[in-house]
Amino acid sequence: MAKTLRPLIAANWKMHGDMSWAFKPADFNTLFLTEDRTHLDVLICPPATLLSSMLDPEQTGVLLGGQDCHANAAGAHTGNVSAEMLKDAGASYVIVGHSERRAEGDTDADVNAKAKAAARAGLTPIICVGETEAERDAGKAQKVVAAQIKASVPKLKDYVIAYEPVWAIGTGKTATPEDVDEMHNAIREQVGAKVRLLYGGSVKPANAESLLGLKNVNGALIGGAGLEMDSLAEIAKAAPAK
Ligand code: PGA
Repeated sequence: MAKTLRPLIAANWKMHGDMSWAFKPADFNTLFLTEDRTHLDVLICPPATLLSSMLDPEQTGVLLGGQDCHANAAGAHTGNVSAEMLKDAGASYVIVGHSERRAEGDTDADVNAKAKAAARAGLTPIICVGETEAERDAGKAQKVVAAQIKASVPKLKDYVIAYEPVWAIGTGKTATPEDVDEMHNAIREQVGAKVRLLYGGSVKPANAESLLGLKNVNGALIGGAGLEMDSLAEIAKAAPAK
C-alpha cells in the first residue's frame, strides 16, 4: 500500500546560495524534463532570503520549501520567520526538527508546535527525526526515533517524516539499506500507510537507487548532493515510478 505514495525528492540547501541560485530549477528541468517526472515531486528548500526570488514553481514544477519556521504567525521574534511568511514567499513545504535545529535547542515540543504552525499556514511539514551514533551503538535507535515521532508529530492530515540518522548527515556515512529498511518499516507501523517517509543522510547518486527502492522509503531529503542540479537530477531519476 505504501508503494502507491508519490515519491518526494527534497533538497535542503542549508546556508548556501546567492541570488544566482534562484534559476537552478530551470537547470534542473534541462536535466530531468517535467514530462519525464510526472510520477514524483521535486522540492528545493533554499535559504529564506532566496525563496521569493526563486523561479515560480507553477512554471518549473520544482516546489519550494522553508528550512524551519517559528511556531507563531507573527510577533516580536527577532531573526525568525513564520510559516505564514514562508507560504507568502512561495513555499508549500517546510522542514521542521532538522537535527541541526535540534542541536541549536529545538525540543520535540518545539518541533510539534512548528509542525502545527506549518499546517495552520497551509504548508506541509517535513518532520525530521533520527538517532545519534551513541544511541545506535547502544541498540536504542528504534526506541529513540519512536519516542521522537510520538512527541514531535501532532495530529495532522498531511505531513512527511524524514528519518535522518544524525551520524549520517554531512559525514559521507550512509546507513545501510538494511538499517534504513528496518527503521522505515518500524516507522510505517507507527504512523500508518498514508505518510510519506523520506530517508536523509549522505544520499548521493551512487546510493540513491538502493535506498529509494526500499519498500517504505518514499523519497529522500538531500543536503550536499542537492546543491548541484546534476547530482540532484540523478538522485531524482533513481526514484522508482509508481
Ligand atoms: P547530507 O544532509 O545529504 O549532506 O548528509 C542531509 C540533511 O541534512 O538533510
